[in-house]
Amino acid sequence: MTIDIHYADAPLGHEIRGIDLSQPISDDVFAEIEAAYDRYGVVLFRGQNLTPDQQIAFSKRFGKLTQYVVDRYNMRTHPEIFVVSNVLKEGKATGLADAGRYWHTDMWVTANPPRGSILYAIEVPVDNGVPKGDTYFASTAAAYDALPDDLRQRIEGRTAVFSSEAYFKARMARTPKDPVTGDYTDSVKERMQQRPKEVFQQHPMVKVHPRTGRKSIYYAEEAIDHVVGLSPEESMALLDEVRRHILQPQFIYRHVWAVGDMVMWDNISCIHKATGDFDLPLHRTMHRTTLASLVAA
Ligand code: OGA
Ligand code: MN
Repeated sequence: MTIDIHYADAPLGHEIRGIDLSQPISDDVFAEIEAAYDRYGVVLFRGQNLTPDQQIAFSKRFGKLTQYVVDRYNMRTHPEIFVVSNVLKEGKATGLADAGRYWHTDMWVTANPPRGSILYAIEVPVDNGVPKGDTYFASTAAAYDALPDDLRQRIEGRTAVFSSEAYFKARMARTPKDPVTGDYTDSVKERMQQRPKEVFQQHPMVKVHPRTGRKSIYYAEEAIDHVVGLSPEESMALLDEVRRHILQPQFIYRHVWAVGDMVMWDNISCIHKATGDFDLPLHRTMHRTTLASLVAA
């Protein structure tokens, strides 16, 4: 059998049709799914109806799973599932509402970030018939291939220093202030004070995919403090150039969600971003499983 791939008008974001992921999948079909995932970086399935156990079982076909760094939003009965949700229950968060409204790879704060993530839509916000909460994906592999020689030479072999504090500051700059006091609300101030100590993590600006050998640009918006060996101004200028190069429309796929969609992304060959263009009372709930790094820790 050859799987039926419906290609997106982008290097990534292709839909695999005709597969019910709640059922056992033969090794042959699975090998084709994995090959498509490795090759394109983002593949997706629609119209699925999966229990947490079924999502975990499918995810485990790819190998070991890993758990999200903060365990507060891991499903209690199924800790392999990380809940992305804006829904409150008795006033309390049922999941992480903001799972990344900036271009990022998952868990860049770790030395060996996950291989990838698998996000399954349980509730999708719809406003006047228009689905909200789209997720964008950009192929950093296609962007690498298309690098102008000059920019390629300037990033190849370079190391970027990611910082939890750089990310936090950028996030604060996007957090609205109280219109009356002109300051952050008490709960935001509390969060600021309670944030963990700054964590630095180095990553090469170009990563080689351990399965495909293909090179990709490793980048996250607003999370990089500086590039090793460059002045702050040179770092900023280089990162800005990299950002503008990657975020060209020809490298980007925008996923408009429907309940039952399952999108899986490779955490090296692409970056992604949540739009977050919705609010309560609209509900958005996703279940995420995370594939462990292919690189030994
Ligand atoms: C994530 C993530 C994006 C979204 O779960 O890692 O970035 O649109 N999610 O929920
Ligand atoms: Mn993410």
